Formats: sequence, C-alpha cells, structure tokens
Amino acid sequence: MSNGTEHVSAKSEVFPPSDDVVAHANVPDYLAIRQAALDDPAAFWDARAKELIDWYEPYNEVLNTSNAPFYKWFTGGKINIVHNALDRHATSWRRNKLALIWESEDGEEVTYSYLKLWRRVNRFANVLKSMGVKKGDTVTIYMGRVPQLPIAMLATAKIGAIHSVVYGGFSEQALADRIADAKSKVVVTCDGAWLRGKTVNLKDITDEAVSRSPVVQKVIVYQRTGQDVKMVPGRDFWWHDLESLPIASPYCETEVMDAEDGLFILYTSGTTGKPKGLLHTCGGYQVHIAATLKYVFDIKEEDRYWCAADPGWITGHSYIVYAPLILGTTSFMYEGAPGYPYPDRWWEQIEKYAISILYTAPTAIRSLMRFGAEWADRHDLSSLRILGSVGEPINPEAWRWYYTHIGHERCPIMDTWWQTETGGFMITPTPVVPLKPGSGTLPFAGIQADVVREDGVPCDANEDGYLVVKYPWPGMARTVWGDPQRYEDTYWADFADQGWYFTGDSARRDEDGYFWIIGRMDDVIKVSGYRLGTAEVESALVSHPDVAEAACIGVPDELKGNVIHAFCILNAGVQGGDDLAAALRQHVRTEVGPIAMPAVVEFVDSLPKTRSGKIMRRLLKAQVLGKPLGDTSTLED
Ligand code: PRX
Repeated sequence: MSNGTEHVSAKSEVFPPSDDVVAHANVPDYLAIRQAALDDPAAFWDARAKELIDWYEPYNEVLNTSNAPFYKWFTGGKINIVHNALDRHATSWRRNKLALIWESEDGEEVTYSYLKLWRRVNRFANVLKSMGVKKGDTVTIYMGRVPQLPIAMLATAKIGAIHSVVYGGFSEQALADRIADAKSKVVVTCDGAWLRGKTVNLKDITDEAVSRSPVVQKVIVYQRTGQDVKMVPGRDFWWHDLESLPIASPYCETEVMDAEDGLFILYTSGTTGKPKGLLHTCGGYQVHIAATLKYVFDIKEEDRYWCAADPGWITGHSYIVYAPLILGTTSFMYEGAPGYPYPDRWWEQIEKYAISILYTAPTAIRSLMRFGAEWADRHDLSSLRILGSVGEPINPEAWRWYYTHIGHERCPIMDTWWQTETGGFMITPTPVVPLKPGSGTLPFAGIQADVVREDGVPCDANEDGYLVVKYPWPGMARTVWGDPQRYEDTYWADFADQGWYFTGDSARRDEDGYFWIIGRMDDVIKVSGYRLGTAEVESALVSHPDVAEAACIGVPDELKGNVIHAFCILNAGVQGGDDLAAALRQHVRTEVGPIAMPAVVEFVDSLPKTRSGKIMRRLLKAQVLGKPLGDTSTLED
C-alpha cells in the first residue's frame, strides 16, 4: 500500500547513547518520563507549561475536548509568545547574551544580543502599529533569509497580529494566493534577496502579486540588495525610513493574548490547488516547541545552535525563531545556500562560531556529501554535540556520512518527524534514546502515534500502514484559516469513528516499536524536503495557453529525495517539443517558484482517469518506475 520508496530497512544497527551524553543530558530519565506520559499526556504538557513558560494569568484547564476535533489547550491562560521569547530575557541577566548571530552570503557578520533584538522588535512593532495593524489583523511577510524576517514575525506577534510568512522562494501567483486568502492589508518584503551571488527580485514579485490581490494597502520594504525597485507613493515605504521616525520607539507594550488566539498562519500544500493556511495559536504551540527543543536538542545555556532551515517554513518558525528564543539560546543563521560559495562554507562556519548543535535536512546533507568528506576534514568540528535531521526520511548512507564525518561518531542524530500541521516534533529520539539510522525512533513524551490499517486495527510489526495520532497535542494546528470544514475533512475524516488525526504519511513500526516513515500517501511531493502539492504545479501548467491538461508525480531522486515528472496534454494544433518543455518548466518557475520546476515535462495524448474523472497518478508513477500497475478496476479507459 505504500506509495513511497523504500529508503529504510527495519533490521538495522542500533547506536546506543554514549555514557557521556547520558551523564550530561538535560533529561536523563526521559524514557521513564515518556512511559509515565503514556497514561496521562495532558499531565506531561501541564508540567512543561509551568516549567518553561511564563503566563500573565494562569490557565484553568489543560485540554478541552468539548468541540473535537477543534481542541483547545490551556484555556483561560493569558500569554504572549514574545514575552517568553524576548521581554523576559531583555529584562534579565540574559540581556547581553547573544540571541542571534547572522552571516551574510558574502561573509558579513551581524550579532544581536537579547536586548538589541528586543529593541529592534519593539521599534518595528511600533512601525506596524503606525501602519494601522491591530490585534487579530494578518501581516504577510515575504523576505529572504535576513534577521529582519524574524524581527518582522516577532513584531507582529508582539502587537497581537497574525503573521503569514510566505517562503522567499515562492513566485507571483503563490504569493498572490496567500496574500488574498489571509486578507493581509500590510505586506513586509525586501528589495531583493541574495541567492548564490545573484539577486532575486522580491519587490518586483511582490508588486506583481499585490496587483493581483487588491486587499493590500501598505508595503514595507527592507533594503537588502540595494537594487533598483519601483516604490508606489502612499503604498510603499522603506523599512529604514519608518524606523527613523519618532514613532518607532524602542519600547512597545506587549499585547496580552488568550492562549487560543491566533499567532500565525502558515500555508502548506495539500491535495487541492488552493494552499491550506494552517492556524497556530498562542499558548499550546509555545509549550510544545519549547519542551521538544529542550528535550530533543538538549539545549544548554552555553550552546550555539544552528537550525539551517529557512525561517519561512514551519521548521524555521518553531525551531529558528520561537523555541530557541524562549529557551534563551544563541542561534546562528546563514543567509546563503549550503555549499555556497564554496563546499566547506558550512563546516567553516561550524568551526568559526563553535556551533554545538546542527539541525538540517537530508537533502542538504546529500548535497554536501557529494563534495566529499575532505571538505569537512579541513575543519575542527569538535564543538558539535548533537546533530538533527528533518523533512524526509534520511537514507542510511547519508545518515552514516553525517554521523561519521560531521559528528565524528560522537554526536547522536535526532531524526525528527513532524509536519507544518503538528507545530513541533512528534516522533523523535532524545539524546538518551538508542538510535537506528533512518528511524525517528519513538513518539515524543505525551504523543500517542500509531501505525494502523484502514479499519483502525494496529498493524503488525513491520507491516506498512497509516500513520495516525490518537490523542491531541498542544502544538497542533487549530484549523485551516477561513475553512474549518477543510480542516475536518483533511485530517479527521479518515479515522472519524476513532477520533484520530491522519498524518497523510505511511509508516511501519518494527519489533522494538520504532517508527519508520515511508512517505506521503496523498498527492504531496517532497522535493528537497520542500512540500509541494501536485495540484499547485498542475494548475500552473494548465494556466499556460498551450496546455489543456496536466498531471504531476514525484519520482525518486538521489539528491533531492524526489523530483517532479509532469505529463501534459496540449491544446489542439500545438506541437510538443524540447522548446515547449523548457518554456513550461520556466512557466512553473515563474508562477510557483524554482522548487516547483518539473525535472521532466512529457507530452501525452491522454491521462489515466477513474470513471469519476480523477487522475490516477499512481498508474503514471508505476509506469515511469517500471513497476506493476496494480489494481486498475476503477480505470475509465
Ligand atoms: O512526509 C513527512 C515528511 O514531511 C512531511 C511534512 O512536511 P512539512 O509540513 O513541510 O514539514 C516539514 C518539516 C517539519 C511529513 O508528512 N517528514 C518530515 N520529517 C520527516 C519526514 N519524513 C521522514 N522523516 C522525517 N524526519
């Protein structure tokens, strides 16, 4: 039943934690705590909410299930995530501790102490207020990997507004759709972003997107590249001009929020063309991410932590911006791509900044692995203590390379399985859990995950099944923005009788209860760890005047995990060829973004469909991979 590639084998080596790691772990008795939490998950989260988070007013209930699946956590609690992430540190001894070290692609280094970051956030919060942003409004943020991106997020949250960050790699239509769906009156962007020595014209893309979504009234532009941009009088403002006004004072009251008020929307791909805006809320989310970061990456006061994702994805939201700041951590952030401008750029940075924790994706590891271990060997990586992986199953070769050449067989690898929807880690080891390469090991304390058959019966050991979560957790997305029905239909309908959350993934559990993720069961393709819906790419293709119909599938790729193979039926009279294939790939790039560009565009006369007209992508995939077609009884033709 799995539609993924077999990346993993259930029979594999076990890497027990070293005595040293166990002796120094924040939570050495984690497995016992986890065991206790199985009976009462809410009690585990209640304890974490009290231990790690400050509340303006205490909550009166940990979990409210009265309107399932619209669960509520910590109801009655008053809170603001920026209080926990910044205010409390900026007024404590941590004020002079570094919160963020940022390095630009060309090697410029900029540091922010907690006090400095707090002041910058306060100033920008005041700027947003002066632009008319109020509690509950949405602000769309579309920027490159610069410190002003987290600053804009934190400033929005500080005043009780809801941010919607759109990854800077998306193009016009993707941005326009997301702005329109969130109904943002204010957009924050950059003139451009540096990417591999070239600039990406973010402001031009924003202009085009804003012209397609007339709700936007104000655009704030952070100057990063200094390239020429068109500024529309009355609509567009330079960040630096606004920040120099008296209104941008470095003091700003933090808005008191209810635990269940909205914190951010993050769009992610699903089975239909329209992206889903998942809503995360103020209270439960921060409890979940702070607890998981502390336990899993074993965060200590003296750590230098590097989550090498982009702040524009959930990994960045939870584990670059919010959780590290809540724990008072020093984070490192690099503007550029891995291996740019030279193969050992990352390894050089680990040495230079004495990074102790590195959290990245298998695709990045594979791309750096290709250059050879000698690039890593040139550097002193002895500061590293813990490694992490996220986004797709890590293949055993990449795991071993990472473990041997980067971690020097000293650093455990935290393979964290989770989703935009889950807010934080769900299936993951901690440093005291024995590891098996390619397995995310066990559900985190307080998380009740399982692998089941279609009828809900738990699978046998090593049997593929549906990965479900059987009990609510605090970081869960609360709804799809503006479409609660879609939230129910997408996540809670498959196992409605049992009241379980279906992840969309297939997985298996081995005889030790370890989880092995196989891949997506729906029409989602993971390209370099980025999540794309087939429908998004298909609708971009059919928006081209020559294309009548399109279907996309993911095909396994050594470097990227998967690449997109597109099938197109052309309009009558149009002839397919290399030029048109190239034009269509470029068209997808412009409409959706470079990550969505199909690797192959194939012209066909028809597509396999069910009698009800649904494209059977499974058959296309089997054909491309030369596998048996399986059940074709629903095929129309
Ligand atoms: O298929 C799983 C895969 O990524 C999906 C979630 O994608 P997204 O919402 O973009 O979030 C990615 C970062 C949290 C999952 O349904 N996935 C994520 N982490 C892993 C993984 N697959 C295997 N192993 C992982 N560690």
